[in-house]
Amino acid sequence: MDLSSQQETFAVTTPLYYVNDLPHIGSAYTTIAADIITRFERMRGKAVLSITGTDEHGQKIERAAQSKQKSPQVYSDEVSAAFVALWEKLDIQYDRFSRTTAANHHAIVKEFFQRVWDKGDIYKSQQKGWYCVSCEEFKEERELLKGHFCSIHTNKQTEWRDEENYFFRLSNYQSKLEALYQAQPNFIQPQTRCNEVLNFVAQGLQDFSISRVNLDWGFPVPSDPSHTLYVWFDALLGYVTALLDPGAEPTLANALAKWWPINLHLIGKDILRFHAIYWPAMLMSAELPLPKVVFGHGFLTKDNQKMGKSLGNTLDPVALIDRYGADAVRYYFMKEIEFGKDGDFNETRFIDTLNADLANDLGNLLNRTLKMALKYGYTNIPNLTCETIADDNPLKIAGVILGEKVAVAYESLCFSQACEIILNLARTGNKYIDDAAPWTLYKQGKQQEVEEVLYAVLESVRLAAYLLSPVVPNIANKIYKQLGLPADFHNKNQISTELAFATHANWGILSGENKLGEPQPVFQRLEAR
Ligand code: MSP
Repeated sequence: MDLSSQQETFAVTTPLYYVNDLPHIGSAYTTIAADIITRFERMRGKAVLSITGTDEHGQKIERAAQSKQKSPQVYSDEVSAAFVALWEKLDIQYDRFSRTTAANHHAIVKEFFQRVWDKGDIYKSQQKGWYCVSCEEFKEERELLKGHFCSIHTNKQTEWRDEENYFFRLSNYQSKLEALYQAQPNFIQPQTRCNEVLNFVAQGLQDFSISRVNLDWGFPVPSDPSHTLYVWFDALLGYVTALLDPGAEPTLANALAKWWPINLHLIGKDILRFHAIYWPAMLMSAELPLPKVVFGHGFLTKDNQKMGKSLGNTLDPVALIDRYGADAVRYYFMKEIEFGKDGDFNETRFIDTLNADLANDLGNLLNRTLKMALKYGYTNIPNLTCETIADDNPLKIAGVILGEKVAVAYESLCFSQACEIILNLARTGNKYIDDAAPWTLYKQGKQQEVEEVLYAVLESVRLAAYLLSPVVPNIANKIYKQLGLPADFHNKNQISTELAFATHANWGILSGENKLGEPQPVFQRLEAR
């Protein structure tokens, strides 16, 4: 029997990234968050499909390729490969990498377009307005900065367009969308983003154009090949194409069979309207079920401006990972920036946070306790269990309820809070060992007390490592190994079986059978440049 068919499914997406330039830390940010959720839901026993990919059509890409004197396809191939390479380097466990230039995607787009066309939601009209090529979006005059510059890409002037386009009847969906937001108050998160959308929709929705003329790089409009399909119409459907099993015939029915509707679209706040307004309306038109949640996170900023390819004020993620390692980069962005809010990158804070949390509070706690245990002649974890540890042991008190608290934090995408409460256990561990002073107990010959301290601390380090494993899988692997529990947090299968949350998120699973490993720093202190 195929057990996977009985498992609850969970599909999560990152945006499909534009290939106008190499990936930067802002693109990595969403993908790290998606990876943490992927890993967490897998630990919880769900069948998870994690989707990422690249968005390769449109004027922005066409122009970027031109400027490099390459064909858009060759250029897209190169940049798309750089995203794949970055995800490897960052230890991202994705399942599907969707490229909008893939042949199977064209078939899905055609079929979807036909459904919306048959519904009568597409018509031809004149489009006049200011267009931001970097956003690939028409802007209202009132949204623009002086001189018709885009408010997001502040160095890019929008371009005046006056052309015949095909339009999607978004206005038909005004009341249906309002009903959706009311019926599913969690559809748009966090609440501030939801309010932005509600305000925008309350102003009245206007039909939007879904085709371009004078643009070659894209799919031809099926009903009129002299027009090219608007990049966003095609891109959003990349999420659907991603659901096709490899080699499956590219039909909507096949794509939607197992993983639809998507549980969580993770996006940045700049592309909220597309996901929270246009996308559900397009799906309503095609009479398809809607995704469950759209979460719009904040921007990584430099000097309070969005870091981005268009402004050229980005951090190179490859250099950052080469210098500090994947775990450090993953941890810093998730711990130090509240997910949903903007956050500035600062290298001094980066180094201080990692040294304080990972090298000192967690790493050093393991290191000193393990060395102590070995010095006192132990080769294995002391032979105790949760039941044999006193109920008033502060680590037991904190540890037994931690798993569920952390689960709530991950489920609500409060990554920073999850890291904080896990680290608190390590901090409690440091205080506990100092207060209990096992070195004195040892000298006094109080073996039972010494064992209780060693067990409680090592078990707490294990639990912290487990609960942090979605964020720092390499550190979790090292800690588990030193505690005599070989585990591979990179192995999807192991995460959902042997390493399942139902067992490992409990406090008190180490036992006398676990052989102590060689003490080695799990995280090397970082030095300022
Ligand atoms: N191609 C579209 C998405 C189509 S989804 C069907 C797109 N691509 S993008 O490459 O410009 O941006 C992708 C994501 O990266 C967006 O969610 C955006 O918010 C995010 N980020 C880009 N710069 C960012 C920061 N400086 N900080 C955080 N996230 C940022 O939009």
